[in-house]
Amino acid sequence: MHGKQGRQWRSICKGLILGTLLTSSMILLYCMSSPQIQFSFPEVPVPYSCAHRPAHGRTTPGANSSQRGAEQCTPKVDIMFMKTHKTASSTLLNILFRFGEKHQLKFAFPDSRNDFFYPSFFHRSQVKDYRPGMCFNIISNHMRFNAAEVSKVLPADTSYITILRDPAELFESSFHYFGRLVPFTWKIPGDDKLGEFLRDPKLYFDPEGYNSNYLKNLLFFDFGYDNTLEPNDSRVDEGIRAIAKRFQLVMLVEHFEESLILLKDALCWDMDDLLFFKLNARKGSTVSKLTPELRARALEWNGIDRKLYRHFNKTFWRKVDAYGRERMARDVAELRRRNAEMAAICIEGGGAVDAGNIQETAMQPWQPIGEKSIMGYNMKKNVDKAHRKLCRKMLTPELQYLTDLGVNLWITKLWGHVRDILNW
Ligand SMILES: *[C@@H]1O[C@H](CO)[C@@H](O)[C@H](O)[C@H]1NC(C)=O
Ligand SMILES: *[C@@H]1O[C@H](CO)[C@@H](O)[C@H](O)[C@H]1NC(C)=O
Ligand SMILES: *[C@@H]1O[C@H](CO)[C@@H](O)[C@H](O)[C@H]1NC(C)=O
Repeated sequence: MHGKQGRQWRSICKGLILGTLLTSSMILLYCMSSPQIQFSFPEVPVPYSCAHRPAHGRTTPGANSSQRGAEQCTPKVDIMFMKTHKTASSTLLNILFRFGEKHQLKFAFPDSRNDFFYPSFFHRSQVKDYRPGMCFNIISNHMRFNAAEVSKVLPADTSYITILRDPAELFESSFHYFGRLVPFTWKIPGDDKLGEFLRDPKLYFDPEGYNSNYLKNLLFFDFGYDNTLEPNDSRVDEGIRAIAKRFQLVMLVEHFEESLILLKDALCWDMDDLLFFKLNARKGSTVSKLTPELRARALEWNGIDRKLYRHFNKTFWRKVDAYGRERMARDVAELRRRNAEMAAICIEGGGAVDAGNIQETAMQPWQPIGEKSIMGYNMKKNVDKAHRKLCRKMLTPELQYLTDLGVNLWITKLWGHVRDILNW
C-alpha cells in the first residue's frame, strides 16, 4: 500500500516538474522570439495609396444615395485598426478580415504568432515578408502602438480607428483572462483574487513585474504610453491629445452597433460590411459582477484609462449627435435585424454555446489559461449554398481565420499543444 502511494506521489511530482519545465521553456521561447535586434531599413517612402481601388462608388441596390446627401463616396480600404485588449476587438477583426477579402486587400500580418510581439513596441520589421517600400492596406493585429513605425507601412491617407471599453469592466476582464500570466498575482491569497487585489493594489502590484501591463491602465499602455503615470500628469493629457489627433474614429464597446454605424459612415462602407456575430465572448457565469465599491476601486486604480474613456465618450456622443440620433436609432435597428436574420440562417440553436459543446475544432476559440470560459458556435449543417461561405467566415474564430489568410502561427500553436497536453 505504502509503496503504491509512494509511486503515485513520485509520478505526480515528475509530472509537475516536467510540466513546469515545459511551460517555463515555452514562455522563454515565446519571449525570446521577440526580435531583439531592430533592423535598420533604408527610408523608402510609402506610396500615397497602395490600394487596388474599387472603381464603383457606393450605389448598392436598395440604398438611396440621395438620402445621405447627393455625393457618392468610395469605400475607404486603407485602415489601421488599433486592436486594444479585451474590447470585443476579435469581433471587429472578423469584420475587417471579411472586408479585406471582399476587396482583395493586403494585410500587414505578424509572423509566427498572432500579435506584433506585444508588449514590445510595433516595428515594421515584425511584419510578415516586409521589405522597404512595401505598403499594405490594413493592419489590425494586437500591437503596442508606435505611430512613426505604423505610418511607414501604410499609405498616408489611412483611416485610423480603435475601440475603448469602460475601464472597470476592462480591468475585470483582463484580470480574468491574463491574471494567471502575471506572476505577482500568484501570491494573492484567497479565492476572490480580484477583490483582494483591489482592496490594496499597491501591496501586490509590481510595475516592473512580468506582464504587469495587463493589470493597470492597459488601454493607455496599448497606445504606447507609460501606464504607471499619475492620472494628473501632463503627459497623460498629451497622450490623450495625440490619440485624438491620430484616430479618426474611437469606438465604444458599450455601444458597439452605434460604433459600427459611425464606422460605416466614416469609411463609406455598406451595411453588409457590418454584419457580425459576437466572437470570443465569455460565459455569463464566469463574469464576476463588480460591486459598486469594487467598480469604484477599479476605476480609481485605472485612473488614466478612466480619463481616456471619459474623453472619448464625449467625442463619441458628439459624433452620434452630428450623425443624427434618430437616423442612428434607425440604422442600429436595421443592423440588429440583419444580424438576427444571419444568426437564424447560420447558427445551430441560434446562439453561442460552451466550448465543450462546439463540434468542430475549426470553430473552437482560444481559451484563457486554466479555463474553458470562452464560448463559440456550431454552424448549421444545412445552410443554403448562397449563405454557406459567409456563415462560415462570420463564425470562424480569430486564430483559425488568420491561418486561413495565410498567417503561420507556429509559436501560438505550439503553445496551444503544450497546454492541451498539460490539460491547462
Ligand atoms: C431616393 O431618393 C429620391 C430623391 O430624394 C426619392 O424621390 C426616392 O423616392 C428615393 N427612393 C427610395 C427607394 O428611397
Ligand atoms: C497628482 O496627484 C497626486 C496624488 O493624487 C498628488 O500627490 C500630486 O501632487 C498631483 N500632482 C499634480 C502635478 O497635480
Ligand atoms: C458618456 O456620455 C454620456 C452622454 O454624454 C453620459 O450620459 C455618460 O454618463 C458618459 N459615461 C461616462 C462613463 O463618462
